[in-house]
Amino acid sequence: MVVVLGFLVGFLYAQHGALPEAPPIPANNPQTAEKIELGKMLYFDPRLSSDGTISCNSCHNVMNGGSDNRATSAGVNAHRGGRNAPTVFNSAFLSVQFWDGRAKSLEEQAKGPITNPIEMGIKTHAVAVDRIKKIPGYVKAFKKVFKGKNAVNIDNLAKAIASYERTLITPNSPFDKFIKGDKSAISPEAQKGYQTFNSVGCVTCHSGSNFAGPSLPEGTGFYMKFPTIAGTKYDKKYKFTQDKGRFDVTKKQADMYMFRVPTLRNIALTAPYFHNGSVETLSEAVRVMGKTQLNKDLSENQVSGIVKFLGTLTGDIPAQTLPTLPPTPNKSVVDLK
Ligand code: HEC
Ligand code: HEC
Repeated sequence: MVVVLGFLVGFLYAQHGALPEAPPIPANNPQTAEKIELGKMLYFDPRLSSDGTISCNSCHNVMNGGSDNRATSAGVNAHRGGRNAPTVFNSAFLSVQFWDGRAKSLEEQAKGPITNPIEMGIKTHAVAVDRIKKIPGYVKAFKKVFKGKNAVNIDNLAKAIASYERTLITPNSPFDKFIKGDKSAISPEAQKGYQTFNSVGCVTCHSGSNFAGPSLPEGTGFYMKFPTIAGTKYDKKYKFTQDKGRFDVTKKQADMYMFRVPTLRNIALTAPYFHNGSVETLSEAVRVMGKTQLNKDLSENQVSGIVKFLGTLTGDIPAQTLPTLPPTPNKSVVDLK
């Protein structure tokens, strides 16, 4: 039922537009230049991890494709989780965050990694806030941005990081130029690949300007079963069904193996692929999708055309300058005990 509905919605929104220049901005967290700058400092600051070694940028490298190009990420004390780090680029367009959609906004998402024991590993949000309070430069910046006596708190910290993330948009891809009318912006092979992408049915799920499904209100995810066709050779080879996806969030049988349809923007930059990072190349990822989602054995010609087309979804990565972080006074705020 959900899948059938999903397909209908997919068809209705099948059109792929150019990526909008700006993402939606929540009313309770307006963008300001100072807030974005504060968010950027926090994003790059390893002092937000238990032992002072890991920042958001360690796993979502914005100098590159916004991910870490590892199968699964390495957090503090070399802990490895079970999931691949998605890109932060264009995450501002997603209506829910994480492979299983368990965070409804960037603000909600940003609080997670800091206290996740296998990511940044700080014991509690109170400990993280306490650290920030020991750094005068941060206290000053928080007060300037958020006003009030209690400006340094975890919600404001998350708001600042989310504001910075909303600047991580990658417009102007060759595909965007093409879809706006410049027919020479992508090669004939890529155009053919785009036709194949639509005709074989990839578009039923990867629709919309972000190739992640229709744009839905914040908090409403667009989920599909993966694998939709169970029992292909790929399940076993890549251990796809070890992760139950959204089922682990809701415990509803209908959510078994449901995953949010991910964006395909900048996909050529973010290998390896899928929620467990088990597939190393884009061509193999396309083959897998053909079989597990559409029950089709795509020809090598079709696969290489689709891969060429997907390469045209790489946009302009916004140039980044490293922020200067406020200095730690007198002694380290990181307690290694
Ligand atoms: C140790 C590596 C690691 C660190 C550090 C880390 N992340 Fe992540 N991030 C991940 C992984 C892995 C996922 C996917 C987890 C899942 O879906 O269950 C993720 C998911 C996300 C998403 C959701 C993207 C999407 O497409 O759903 C965003 C946004 C994000 N992280 C931002 C951040 C921010 C901001 C920080 C710093 C506060 C941070 N991450 C720190 C590894 C990391
Ligand atoms: C029935 C819905 C559906 C269809 C049809 C579909 N996909 Fe997907 N696609 C998904 C879902 C859900 C995921 C996330 C899978 C996971 O959990 O790893 C995904 C993941 C991907 C990924 C990996 C993304 C990443 O960041 O690792 C690529 C690439 C991809 N799809 C391309 C395609 C192509 C090409 C086609 C057509 C041959 C296609 N998809 C058809 C639902 C679909």
